[in-house]
Amino acid sequence: MKLSENQNLKTYNTFGMEVYARRFVQLESAEEVPAVMEEWLRQRPYYILGGGANTLFTEDFDGTIAHPVFGGIEMMEKSGEKVLLRVAAGEPWDNLIQYCIEHEYYGIENLTAIPGLAGSAPVQNIGAYGVEVKDTIVKVQGYRISTGEPFELTNADCRFAYRNSVFKQEMKNDCVITYVWFQLSTEKHFTLTYQGLVQSLQEREMPLTLRNVSDCVRRIRDAKLPDPAIIGNGGSFFKNPVVQAGKYRDLKAQYPDLVAYDAPNGDKKLSAGQLIEKAGWKGKRVGNAGTWKNQALVLVNHGGATPQEVLGVADAVIHDVNALFGITLEMEINRM
Ligand code: EPU
Repeated sequence: MKLSENQNLKTYNTFGMEVYARRFVQLESAEEVPAVMEEWLRQRPYYILGGGANTLFTEDFDGTIAHPVFGGIEMMEKSGEKVLLRVAAGEPWDNLIQYCIEHEYYGIENLTAIPGLAGSAPVQNIGAYGVEVKDTIVKVQGYRISTGEPFELTNADCRFAYRNSVFKQEMKNDCVITYVWFQLSTEKHFTLTYQGLVQSLQEREMPLTLRNVSDCVRRIRDAKLPDPAIIGNGGSFFKNPVVQAGKYRDLKAQYPDLVAYDAPNGDKKLSAGQLIEKAGWKGKRVGNAGTWKNQALVLVNHGGATPQEVLGVADAVIHDVNALFGITLEMEINRM
């Protein structure tokens, strides 16, 4: 465990917000989690920070932030064409992608280049280009902070849904995830439902291999999403809103190019990015904050933005989208 006081979090959140934490504990192994919980996390407030890729800090944090830095990927079992990997919470997500490409394990290649740590992947059920991480997670291990007890949740226990899980509901801010277990396939199999990905592979006349699919995903992301190492951002700032079929029909009549995907129970999931663009916000800048020029769903810090500037843009976007479409966007990012 490594403890620091009055820690600047600027390099610990991809938005690049300069805020300070009173105490900052780096968790260096899963074994030390119980002692850290006992000593530091019982005193509130506390927050478990993964890669900081989905957190917007809005003020200094007058408490303890615990940040897992222990990584490692272990192959635990191989049977038939299935492999079981145990990945430690502090492992950067994209390292796991590289490992899977090297070992030819199929299943998560569409999730290439998502910023953040493996331990955070189940929390918001990361997803991209037709794949959600829930489809490969077998179990999640960790500790409950309120009881100090270890837990082991099966895939069903995690109650995964679109950008949602038990870790964002009942267990919100009450657990330290230590390991995530993934089941992947050694058999060649791809998910090619995202038109942009299929097109990109075809245009480049690339044979279907893990590396090529992963490279194409990386290119698509590079074209649409700002690199947080250069322009601070937290990926999609809002969730794609789900509306009832009737509401969708009304909007579609008004906006024939409205993008929509089928959602459970006959509902439709709309593209928040498109709604924000239609509300006139794509690439708009207010002070040092704004929305990204190639993907309006991403709010950005152009450099030196304060949390208030980012929140100001978010509020204005919510207001204008609501005024135009009667839809209230919900934040995808964790606001702290
Ligand atoms: N669109 C616009 N204007 C925009 C942005 C998008 O018209 O400014 C349109 C696009 O033309 C497209 C549709 O909206 O027809 C969907 O856009 P895109 O494919 O970029 O995906 P998204 O729905 O905006 C979601 C995820 C992303 C993920 C992509 C690809 C959410 C909240 N976001 O975005 O995830 O990479 O799909 O699968 O579900 C993230 O969560 O941080 C993230 C980046």
